[in-house]
Parts: sequence; structure tokens; C-alpha cells
Amino acid sequence: MDPSLVKIPAMKDLTIDNITENVIRINSLCPDERMKYILERLVTHLHDFARETRLSTEEWMTGLRFLTEVGKICTDVRQEFILLSDILGLSLLVDSIDHPKPAGSTEGTVLGPFHTHEAEELSAGAAMSHDPNGQPLLVVCTIKDTAGNPVSNVKIDIWETDSTGHYDVQYPDHDGPDGRCIMRSDAEGVFWFHAITPVPYPIPHDGPVGKLLKVLGRHPYRPSHMHFMFEKEGFDHLITALYLRNDPYETSDAVFGVKDSLVVDIGTAGPEFAAKYNVPEDHACLTYDFVLVSDQETSALRARNSKEALDRLGRKVRIVNGLPVPDLD
Ligand code: BEZ
Ligand code: FE
Repeated sequence: MDPSLVKIPAMKDLTIDNITENVIRINSLCPDERMKYILERLVTHLHDFARETRLSTEEWMTGLRFLTEVGKICTDVRQEFILLSDILGLSLLVDSIDHPKPAGSTEGTVLGPFHTHEAEELSAGAAMSHDPNGQPLLVVCTIKDTAGNPVSNVKIDIWETDSTGHYDVQYPDHDGPDGRCIMRSDAEGVFWFHAITPVPYPIPHDGPVGKLLKVLGRHPYRPSHMHFMFEKEGFDHLITALYLRNDPYETSDAVFGVKDSLVVDIGTAGPEFAAKYNVPEDHACLTYDFVLVSDQETSALRARNSKEALDRLGRKVRIVNGLPVPDLD
């Protein structure tokens, strides 16, 4: 749209009480319905935030300086804005809204900044960590759909830290992937590999987000976990992780990622697995049955949840592609 052809509504003498409606009115010239809705709600909440906190000019400037610092420390391999979103609980919230899970399916969790595209595809039974100080761990998993059928040929991205709590990419001299791999589920929906027992570690806290955590009196630790990402056409992309029970940070994760359904016990292989996977019976072993949700189920659930949430808020909207837009009628 040519902005010179747009008739701008008259705006003058704006006050604490009428600025919000005026900003919304001029933004509502936007032809993109979804964008219009997002900006309307953003401006409403932002202005209410300033009015409710009686935000001082100095505080407003402190906030802007903080965001500038967050931007300045970002590089190709460091995304401080996502980290900020993580420690404010926004990442987990957005994932829960956009990837709703029916009962019995595997819940999602935060992606974090340490997934890379460097991992190599390994065959079943391979070792994905070569840390000699890690505690060896056999991992045996299945993948099913919500009807209980095995899902074969799923691409699974897996990553974890070494025994000191560092991902490979955190070492300046790292050359090549370690503690990460790609696997494919077999005809029975099974994938298995050798890893090390995860350990707790701090999120990057040497930047503005770390300073904010300190000011808030919060620690930067994540509980011991292993990341998993599942991709198969026809299924909703699943980003999740498994967390070890009784970790000291199980209930105070710096990025709010732990869900009870993702908390696991590490057991031992036992006689059957020892024979099947060629490990001693007392070898540490982690098993988990993942359940993927189809794209169709996810779209339907997303639309239903949107409608219910907006009805609860008493908002007059239309749901388009599962997302609210202004109702113009
Ligand atoms: C992680 O688990 O790798 C992670 C998640 C969020 C922020 C930082 C790290
Ligand atoms: Fe992690």
C-alpha cells in the first residue's frame, strides 16, 4: 500500500488516557489482519504496563539501555534475545501455545542456543559422546503416534553437554561435533545409542541476561538433561528434553523447561537389555517412549485452544489458521 494514499486519522493533544486508542487507530491501517491484532494487543499491554508501574523516564531509559546491551552481545552463535526470552518464561509459553499436546503425547520444552547443524547421522548403537570422564549411559527409546503405532524413519537430533557441563561449541578450539548426533528410528520405532549421564550446568551468564539474573537473585543453572528434536513429515515438529529426577535444580530451572512427564530415572540395563545391547547388566540405562502428534491433530487442537482462550478473555475475534485476528463484523 502506498502510504501517501492513506488517510491518517487526526491525532493531537494526546494524553495518558487517550494515547493508546490513537496509536491503535493509526496502526489499524495495516492491511495484514494478524499483524494488526498483534500490534493492537502489544500497544495495549505496553501502555498499561507504563501506566500501572508509573514508569519513570529513568527506568524507561534503563530498560532501553539493557535491550541495547542484549543486542550488542548477539553474534552468529550467541542469541542473547532468545536467552532473555528463556529466562522470562516466554520461550516455554510460546512453545506450549504453538505446539499443544493432547494427553498422552510427549510434551515440548525449550530449545536453547546449543542445537547446531553440525551433528552427524550415526547408526543405531553408536556412541555420540566421546568424553572419557563421562559416566557411560545406554539410551533406548521408542517413538509412537497417538494411536500407539510405531513411527519409523523419524529424524532425531540429540545433543548433550560433556561431563563438565559444556557443549562442544562452547570450546573455542572445538573442531567437529561431539555430544551430538542424528539418529533414525527403525521399523519398530526404536532408536538407541551410547551417551554419557547428563550433568547440571549454567546457561551463558557472562552478559546482560546474567546480570539481570543476579539483580533478581536468581541462579543461572539448568538441571541435568539431554535434548531431543523429532522431525517427520505429517507430524508436528517436537523439540523436547529428558530431565534427571532428583537433580538439585529439578524445580528451579533457570529457563522453566522441566515438566514432570519429561523427568526420568536412570536405571540399569538388566539381563534382557544386557544381552540385546551388549552391555553389562549393571550398565546405566535410560529408556523413554516418545509419542508424536500429527500435524492435523496439532492444528485442530491449536484452533480449539485459541477459541477457548479468547472466549475466556471475552474478546471478540475470529480464528484464522488457529490464530486470532480482529473480528470486523
Ligand atoms: C540448554 O538447555 O541448552 C539451554 C536452554 C535455554 C537457555 C540456555 C541453554
Ligand atoms: Fe541444554
